[in-house]
Amino acid sequence: MTNTIVPADPGRVLIFDTTLRDGEQSPGATMTHEEKLEIAEMLDEMGVDIIEAGFPIASEGDFAAVSEISKRSKDAVICGLSRANFKDIDRCWEAVKHAAKPRIHTFIGTSPLHRAIPNLTMDEMAERIHETVTHARNLCDNVQWSPMDATRTEHDYLCRVVEIAIKAGATTINIPDTVGYTAPKESAELIRMLLERVPGADEIIFATHCHNDLGMATANSLAAVEAGARQIECTINGLGERAGNTALEEVVMALKVRHDIMPFTTGVESKKLMNISRRVAAVSGFPVQFNKAIVGKNAFAHESGIHQDGMLKNAETFEIMRPEDVGLAATNLVMGKHSGRAALRDKLKQLGIEVGDNQLKDIFVRFKDLADRKKEVYDDDILALVRVSEDAT
Ligand code: KIV
Ligand code: ZN
Repeated sequence: MTNTIVPADPGRVLIFDTTLRDGEQSPGATMTHEEKLEIAEMLDEMGVDIIEAGFPIASEGDFAAVSEISKRSKDAVICGLSRANFKDIDRCWEAVKHAAKPRIHTFIGTSPLHRAIPNLTMDEMAERIHETVTHARNLCDNVQWSPMDATRTEHDYLCRVVEIAIKAGATTINIPDTVGYTAPKESAELIRMLLERVPGADEIIFATHCHNDLGMATANSLAAVEAGARQIECTINGLGERAGNTALEEVVMALKVRHDIMPFTTGVESKKLMNISRRVAAVSGFPVQFNKAIVGKNAFAHESGIHQDGMLKNAETFEIMRPEDVGLAATNLVMGKHSGRAALRDKLKQLGIEVGDNQLKDIFVRFKDLADRKKEVYDDDILALVRVSEDAT
Protein backbone atom coordinates (compact mmCIF):
# COMPACT_ATOMS: atom_id res chain seq x y z
CA MET A 1 0.00 0.00 0.00
CA THR A 2 1.29 3.48 -0.79
CA ASN A 3 0.85 6.27 1.66
CA THR A 4 2.19 9.46 0.21
CA ILE A 5 3.00 11.15 3.50
CA VAL A 6 4.05 8.48 5.97
CA PRO A 7 7.10 10.11 7.60
CA ALA A 8 10.33 8.13 7.71
CA ASP A 9 10.86 9.21 11.33
CA PRO A 10 8.66 7.07 13.62
CA GLY A 11 8.50 9.90 16.16
CA ARG A 12 7.19 12.45 13.70
CA VAL A 13 3.55 13.41 14.33
CA LEU A 14 1.60 14.88 11.43
CA ILE A 15 -0.42 17.98 12.19
CA PHE A 16 -3.78 18.07 10.41
CA ASP A 17 -5.42 21.44 10.80
CA THR A 18 -9.20 21.60 10.41
CA THR A 19 -9.78 25.26 11.38
CA LEU A 20 -11.28 25.90 7.95
CA ARG A 21 -13.66 22.91 8.15
CA ASP A 22 -14.50 21.73 11.69
CA GLY A 23 -13.47 25.11 13.14
CA GLU A 24 -15.67 27.01 10.76
CA GLN A 25 -18.60 24.71 11.62
CA SER A 26 -18.70 26.49 14.97
CA PRO A 27 -21.92 28.53 14.97
CA GLY A 28 -21.06 32.11 14.04
CA ALA A 29 -17.47 31.42 12.93
CA THR A 30 -18.06 31.70 9.19
CA MET A 31 -15.11 33.23 7.33
CA THR A 32 -15.08 34.95 3.96
CA HIS A 33 -13.42 33.45 0.89
CA GLU A 34 -10.46 35.83 1.16
CA GLU A 35 -10.06 35.16 4.89
CA LYS A 36 -9.96 31.42 4.25
CA LEU A 37 -7.26 31.82 1.62
CA GLU A 38 -5.24 33.93 4.01
CA ILE A 39 -5.51 31.44 6.89
CA ALA A 40 -4.66 28.52 4.58
CA GLU A 41 -1.54 30.33 3.40
CA MET A 42 -0.49 30.99 7.00
CA LEU A 43 -1.05 27.33 7.93
CA ASP A 44 0.99 26.16 4.96
CA GLU A 45 3.81 28.56 5.81
CA MET A 46 3.93 27.54 9.45
CA GLY A 47 4.51 23.89 8.54
CA VAL A 48 1.11 22.26 9.04
CA ASP A 49 1.23 18.92 7.21
CA ILE A 50 -2.41 18.63 6.14
CA ILE A 51 -4.97 21.42 5.80
CA GLU A 52 -8.61 20.38 5.79
CA ALA A 53 -9.82 23.29 3.70
CA GLY A 54 -13.56 22.67 3.79
CA PHE A 55 -16.52 20.50 2.89
CA PRO A 56 -16.85 21.01 -0.88
CA ILE A 57 -20.41 19.73 -1.26
CA ALA A 58 -21.69 21.89 1.60
CA SER A 59 -21.94 25.06 -0.49
CA GLU A 60 -20.68 26.75 -3.65
CA GLY A 61 -18.59 28.97 -1.39
CA ASP A 62 -16.91 26.03 0.31
CA PHE A 63 -16.24 24.41 -3.06
CA ALA A 64 -14.67 27.62 -4.38
CA ALA A 65 -12.52 28.05 -1.26
CA VAL A 66 -11.23 24.46 -1.29
CA SER A 67 -10.47 24.71 -5.03
CA GLU A 68 -8.57 27.97 -4.68
CA ILE A 69 -6.67 26.83 -1.58
CA SER A 70 -5.70 23.70 -3.51
CA LYS A 71 -4.41 25.75 -6.43
CA ARG A 72 -2.36 28.02 -4.17
CA SER A 73 -1.01 25.31 -1.85
CA LYS A 74 2.73 24.90 -1.48
CA ASP A 75 3.93 22.18 0.89
CA ALA A 76 0.80 21.08 2.73
CA VAL A 77 -1.53 18.28 1.69
CA ILE A 78 -4.95 19.80 0.94
CA CYS A 79 -7.88 17.79 2.13
CA GLY A 80 -11.63 18.11 1.61
CA LEU A 81 -14.38 16.39 3.56
CA SER A 82 -17.12 14.24 2.04
CA ARG A 83 -19.89 12.04 3.36
CA ALA A 84 -20.05 8.38 2.39
CA ASN A 85 -21.63 8.75 -1.04
CA PHE A 86 -20.21 9.03 -4.56
CA LYS A 87 -21.67 12.49 -5.23
CA ASP A 88 -19.93 14.01 -2.18
CA ILE A 89 -16.68 12.24 -2.96
CA ASP A 90 -16.69 13.33 -6.62
CA ARG A 91 -17.37 16.93 -5.61
CA CYS A 92 -14.58 16.78 -3.07
CA TRP A 93 -12.16 15.45 -5.67
CA GLU A 94 -13.16 18.19 -8.14
CA ALA A 95 -12.06 20.73 -5.53
CA VAL A 96 -8.88 19.14 -4.14
CA LYS A 97 -7.53 17.74 -7.42
CA HIS A 98 -5.79 21.08 -8.13
CA ALA A 99 -3.49 20.64 -5.14
CA ALA A 100 0.05 19.35 -5.56
CA LYS A 101 -0.82 16.94 -2.75
CA PRO A 102 -4.58 16.27 -2.62
CA ARG A 103 -6.45 14.16 -0.08
CA ILE A 104 -10.06 12.98 0.05
CA HIS A 105 -11.50 12.55 3.54
CA THR A 106 -14.68 10.53 3.73
CA PHE A 107 -16.63 9.59 6.85
CA ILE A 108 -19.71 7.87 8.21
CA GLY A 109 -21.11 7.61 11.74
CA THR A 110 -20.51 4.08 13.02
CA SER A 111 -21.82 4.15 16.61
CA PRO A 112 -25.30 2.72 17.30
CA LEU A 113 -26.75 6.24 17.59
CA HIS A 114 -25.22 7.33 14.32
CA ARG A 115 -26.05 4.12 12.47
CA ALA A 116 -29.71 4.74 13.27
CA ILE A 117 -29.74 8.01 11.29
CA PRO A 118 -29.31 6.56 7.77
CA ASN A 119 -31.08 3.47 9.09
CA LEU A 120 -28.42 1.06 7.84
CA THR A 121 -27.76 -2.36 9.28
CA MET A 122 -24.20 -3.14 10.32
CA ASP A 123 -23.70 -5.17 7.14
CA GLU A 124 -25.19 -2.48 4.91
CA MET A 125 -22.93 0.13 6.46
CA ALA A 126 -19.89 -2.11 6.04
CA GLU A 127 -20.73 -2.47 2.35
CA ARG A 128 -21.19 1.31 2.01
CA ILE A 129 -17.76 1.87 3.55
CA HIS A 130 -16.16 -0.61 1.17
CA GLU A 131 -17.79 1.02 -1.89
CA THR A 132 -17.11 4.63 -0.95
CA VAL A 133 -13.50 4.21 0.14
CA THR A 134 -12.81 2.17 -3.02
CA HIS A 135 -14.38 4.94 -5.09
CA ALA A 136 -12.32 7.64 -3.35
CA ARG A 137 -9.15 5.63 -3.78
CA ASN A 138 -9.80 5.25 -7.50
CA LEU A 139 -9.73 9.04 -7.72
CA CYS A 140 -6.90 9.87 -5.33
CA ASP A 141 -3.99 7.94 -3.85
CA ASN A 142 -4.32 9.75 -0.52
CA VAL A 143 -7.58 8.81 1.21
CA GLN A 144 -8.58 9.36 4.80
CA TRP A 145 -11.52 7.54 6.32
CA SER A 146 -13.26 8.35 9.61
CA PRO A 147 -15.77 6.30 11.60
CA MET A 148 -17.60 9.24 13.18
CA ASP A 149 -18.31 8.76 16.90
CA ALA A 150 -15.64 6.04 16.97
CA THR A 151 -15.26 6.33 20.73
CA ARG A 152 -18.90 5.21 21.19
CA THR A 153 -18.75 2.46 18.57
CA GLU A 154 -18.66 -1.22 19.62
CA HIS A 155 -15.04 -2.39 19.48
CA ASP A 156 -15.72 -5.45 17.35
CA TYR A 157 -17.61 -3.41 14.80
CA LEU A 158 -14.99 -0.66 14.83
CA CYS A 159 -12.25 -3.20 14.09
CA ARG A 160 -14.34 -4.70 11.33
CA VAL A 161 -15.02 -1.40 9.53
CA VAL A 162 -11.48 -0.09 9.96
CA GLU A 163 -10.21 -3.29 8.35
CA ILE A 164 -12.65 -2.84 5.46
CA ALA A 165 -11.53 0.77 4.93
CA ILE A 166 -7.85 -0.23 4.95
CA LYS A 167 -8.47 -3.04 2.47
CA ALA A 168 -10.41 -0.63 0.24
CA GLY A 169 -7.37 1.65 0.12
CA ALA A 170 -7.61 4.19 2.96
CA THR A 171 -4.14 5.48 3.78
CA THR A 172 -5.12 7.31 6.98
CA ILE A 173 -7.70 6.10 9.48
CA ASN A 174 -8.97 8.85 11.71
CA ILE A 175 -10.55 7.95 15.05
CA PRO A 176 -12.89 10.78 16.02
CA ASP A 177 -14.09 11.44 19.54
CA THR A 178 -16.94 13.36 17.96
CA VAL A 179 -18.70 14.34 21.17
CA GLY A 180 -15.67 14.76 23.44
CA TYR A 181 -16.65 11.74 25.50
CA THR A 182 -13.41 9.82 25.91
CA ALA A 183 -10.66 10.21 28.53
CA PRO A 184 -6.87 9.86 28.09
CA LYS A 185 -6.57 6.23 29.22
CA GLU A 186 -9.43 5.12 27.01
CA SER A 187 -8.19 7.19 24.07
CA ALA A 188 -4.83 5.40 24.24
CA GLU A 189 -6.40 1.97 24.71
CA LEU A 190 -8.58 2.42 21.65
CA ILE A 191 -5.61 3.15 19.37
CA ARG A 192 -3.61 0.30 20.91
CA MET A 193 -6.56 -2.09 20.43
CA LEU A 194 -6.90 -1.13 16.75
CA LEU A 195 -3.18 -1.49 16.13
CA GLU A 196 -3.21 -4.94 17.71
CA ARG A 197 -6.41 -6.31 16.26
CA VAL A 198 -6.80 -4.89 12.76
CA PRO A 199 -4.86 -6.62 9.95
CA GLY A 200 -2.93 -4.03 7.93
CA ALA A 201 -3.09 -1.43 10.72
CA ASP A 202 0.69 -1.09 10.73
CA GLU A 203 0.67 0.04 7.10
CA ILE A 204 -1.49 3.11 7.56
CA ILE A 205 -1.45 6.21 9.75
CA PHE A 206 -3.88 6.42 12.65
CA ALA A 207 -5.17 9.90 13.38
CA THR A 208 -6.79 11.23 16.52
CA HIS A 209 -9.59 13.81 16.27
CA CYS A 210 -10.83 15.04 19.62
CA HIS A 211 -13.50 17.45 20.77
CA ASN A 212 -13.28 19.34 24.01
CA ASP A 213 -16.68 18.85 25.65
CA LEU A 214 -15.08 17.66 28.90
CA GLY A 215 -11.95 19.79 28.51
CA MET A 216 -9.80 16.75 27.69
CA ALA A 217 -9.19 17.14 23.94
CA THR A 218 -5.49 17.92 24.21
CA ALA A 219 -4.84 15.21 26.80
CA ASN A 220 -6.81 12.67 24.76
CA SER A 221 -4.90 13.55 21.57
CA LEU A 222 -1.52 13.20 23.28
CA ALA A 223 -2.53 9.90 24.88
CA ALA A 224 -3.51 8.60 21.43
CA VAL A 225 -0.10 9.61 20.08
CA GLU A 226 1.66 7.79 22.90
CA ALA A 227 -0.33 4.70 21.93
CA GLY A 228 0.68 4.90 18.27
CA ALA A 229 -1.44 7.53 16.50
CA ARG A 230 0.76 9.66 14.23
CA GLN A 231 -1.64 12.38 13.11
CA ILE A 232 -3.33 14.90 15.37
CA GLU A 233 -6.39 16.72 14.05
CA CYS A 234 -6.75 20.14 15.58
CA THR A 235 -7.70 23.77 15.06
CA ILE A 236 -6.15 27.14 15.84
CA ASN A 237 -7.38 28.39 19.24
CA GLY A 238 -9.34 25.13 19.57
CA LEU A 239 -12.05 26.67 17.39
CA GLY A 240 -14.84 24.19 16.75
CA GLU A 241 -18.37 23.13 17.43
CA ARG A 242 -19.66 23.27 21.02
CA ALA A 243 -16.57 23.37 23.29
CA GLY A 244 -14.27 23.14 20.27
CA ASN A 245 -11.57 20.84 18.94
CA THR A 246 -8.07 20.02 20.15
CA ALA A 247 -6.07 23.26 20.05
CA LEU A 248 -3.17 23.09 17.60
CA GLU A 249 -1.01 25.43 19.66
CA GLU A 250 -1.46 23.24 22.76
CA VAL A 251 -0.40 19.94 21.20
CA VAL A 252 2.50 21.52 19.32
CA MET A 253 3.87 23.21 22.44
CA ALA A 254 3.19 20.23 24.72
CA LEU A 255 5.26 18.02 22.41
CA LYS A 256 8.00 20.64 22.27
CA VAL A 257 8.16 21.54 25.97
CA ARG A 258 7.74 17.97 27.28
CA HIS A 259 9.82 16.23 24.65
CA ASP A 260 11.60 14.54 27.56
CA ILE A 261 8.54 12.43 28.33
CA MET A 262 6.78 12.58 24.93
CA PRO A 263 9.57 12.08 22.37
CA PHE A 264 7.61 13.18 19.31
CA THR A 265 8.12 16.05 16.90
CA THR A 266 5.92 18.11 14.59
CA GLY A 267 6.87 20.24 11.60
CA VAL A 268 5.15 23.35 12.96
CA GLU A 269 7.21 26.49 13.42
CA SER A 270 6.02 27.49 16.87
CA LYS A 271 7.12 31.13 16.54
CA LYS A 272 4.19 31.63 14.17
CA LEU A 273 1.54 30.50 16.67
CA MET A 274 0.65 33.85 18.22
CA ASN A 275 0.22 35.57 14.90
CA ILE A 276 -2.11 32.97 13.42
CA SER A 277 -4.03 32.74 16.70
CA ARG A 278 -4.75 36.48 16.56
CA ARG A 279 -5.70 36.32 12.90
CA VAL A 280 -8.09 33.38 13.39
CA ALA A 281 -9.66 35.16 16.36
CA ALA A 282 -10.17 38.27 14.23
CA VAL A 283 -11.62 36.59 11.15
CA SER A 284 -13.81 34.11 13.04
CA GLY A 285 -15.03 36.70 15.50
CA PHE A 286 -14.22 34.30 18.36
CA PRO A 287 -11.95 36.09 20.85
CA VAL A 288 -9.33 34.02 22.67
CA GLN A 289 -10.06 33.67 26.37
CA PHE A 290 -7.53 35.56 28.51
CA ASN A 291 -6.28 32.46 30.31
CA LYS A 292 -6.13 30.22 27.22
CA ALA A 293 -2.99 28.04 27.25
CA ILE A 294 -0.17 29.24 24.95
CA VAL A 295 -1.98 32.08 23.15
CA GLY A 296 -4.18 33.73 25.80
CA LYS A 297 -3.45 37.34 26.79
CA ASN A 298 -2.40 36.15 30.24
CA ALA A 299 -0.41 33.07 29.18
CA PHE A 300 2.83 35.03 29.62
CA ALA A 301 1.64 37.73 32.02
CA HIS A 302 2.38 38.05 35.75
CA GLU A 303 0.94 40.40 38.31
CA SER A 304 1.74 39.05 41.74
CA GLY A 305 4.76 40.50 43.50
CA ILE A 306 6.27 37.10 44.24
CA HIS A 307 5.93 35.99 40.63
CA GLN A 308 7.22 39.27 39.21
CA ASP A 309 10.22 39.25 41.54
CA GLY A 310 10.96 35.64 40.54
CA MET A 311 10.58 36.45 36.85
CA LEU A 312 12.97 39.38 37.10
CA LYS A 313 15.59 37.12 38.68
CA ASN A 314 15.08 34.06 36.48
CA ALA A 315 12.26 33.69 33.94
CA GLU A 316 12.21 29.92 34.40
CA THR A 317 10.88 30.40 37.93
CA PHE A 318 7.37 30.90 36.65
CA GLU A 319 7.48 30.19 32.91
CA ILE A 320 7.94 26.76 31.32
CA MET A 321 8.42 28.11 27.81
CA ARG A 322 9.84 31.31 26.39
CA PRO A 323 7.39 33.87 24.99
CA GLU A 324 9.61 34.20 21.90
CA ASP A 325 9.02 30.50 21.15
CA VAL A 326 5.35 31.18 20.46
CA GLY A 327 5.97 34.47 18.70
CA LEU A 328 5.47 36.90 21.57
CA ALA A 329 8.03 39.68 22.03
CA ALA A 330 8.34 39.40 25.81
CA THR A 331 6.76 38.40 29.08
CA ASN A 332 4.27 40.96 30.34
CA LEU A 333 4.72 42.04 33.95
CA VAL A 334 1.30 43.56 34.54
CA MET A 335 1.29 46.38 37.07
CA GLY A 336 -1.57 45.89 39.50
CA LYS A 337 -2.32 45.72 43.19
CA HIS A 338 -0.40 42.47 43.59
CA SER A 339 2.80 43.87 42.07
CA GLY A 340 5.83 44.46 44.25
CA ARG A 341 8.60 47.03 44.52
CA ALA A 342 11.00 45.09 42.28
CA ALA A 343 8.52 45.14 39.40
CA LEU A 344 7.86 48.84 39.90
CA ARG A 345 11.58 49.60 39.82
CA ASP A 346 11.91 47.50 36.66
CA LYS A 347 8.94 49.24 35.04
CA LEU A 348 10.40 52.67 35.84
CA LYS A 349 13.70 51.56 34.32
CA GLN A 350 11.91 50.45 31.15
CA LEU A 351 10.28 53.88 31.01
CA GLY A 352 13.72 55.47 31.25
CA ILE A 353 13.25 56.72 34.82
CA GLU A 354 15.96 56.23 37.45
CA VAL A 355 14.85 56.95 41.02
CA GLY A 356 16.54 56.74 44.39
CA ASP A 357 15.28 54.46 47.19
CA ASN A 358 13.31 57.23 48.92
CA GLN A 359 11.47 58.30 45.80
CA LEU A 360 10.79 54.68 44.87
CA LYS A 361 9.22 54.24 48.31
CA ASP A 362 7.01 57.27 47.75
CA ILE A 363 5.95 56.24 44.24
CA PHE A 364 5.29 52.72 45.48
CA VAL A 365 2.84 53.97 48.15
CA ARG A 366 1.01 56.07 45.55
CA PHE A 367 1.07 53.16 43.12
CA LYS A 368 -0.51 50.76 45.65
CA ASP A 369 -3.18 53.29 46.45
CA LEU A 370 -4.03 53.68 42.76
CA ALA A 371 -3.84 49.93 42.08
CA ASP A 372 -6.42 49.29 44.79
CA ARG A 373 -8.85 51.38 42.79
CA LYS A 374 -7.89 50.30 39.28
CA LYS A 375 -7.68 46.80 37.71
CA GLU A 376 -4.48 47.51 35.81
CA VAL A 377 -2.03 50.39 36.17
CA TYR A 378 -0.75 51.49 32.76
CA ASP A 379 2.53 53.13 31.83
CA ASP A 380 0.82 56.52 31.59
CA ASP A 381 -0.53 56.11 35.15
CA ILE A 382 2.97 55.38 36.40
CA LEU A 383 4.41 58.38 34.62
CA ALA A 384 1.71 60.52 36.24
CA LEU A 385 2.58 59.08 39.67
CA VAL A 386 6.24 59.97 39.09
CA ARG A 387 5.26 63.56 38.30
CA VAL A 388 3.05 63.80 41.41
CA SER A 389 5.84 62.37 43.52
CA GLU A 390 8.37 64.83 42.10
CA ASP A 391 6.01 67.77 42.76
CA ALA A 392 5.46 66.63 46.32
CA THR A 393 9.17 66.40 47.21
O1 KIV B 1 -15.92 15.12 14.94
C1 KIV B 1 -16.04 14.38 13.94
O2 KIV B 1 -16.42 13.22 14.03
C2 KIV B 1 -15.71 14.95 12.65
C3 KIV B 1 -15.68 14.00 11.50
C4 KIV B 1 -16.34 14.52 10.30
C5 KIV B 1 -14.26 13.60 11.25
O3 KIV B 1 -15.42 16.13 12.54
ZN1 ZN C 1 -14.95 16.99 14.54
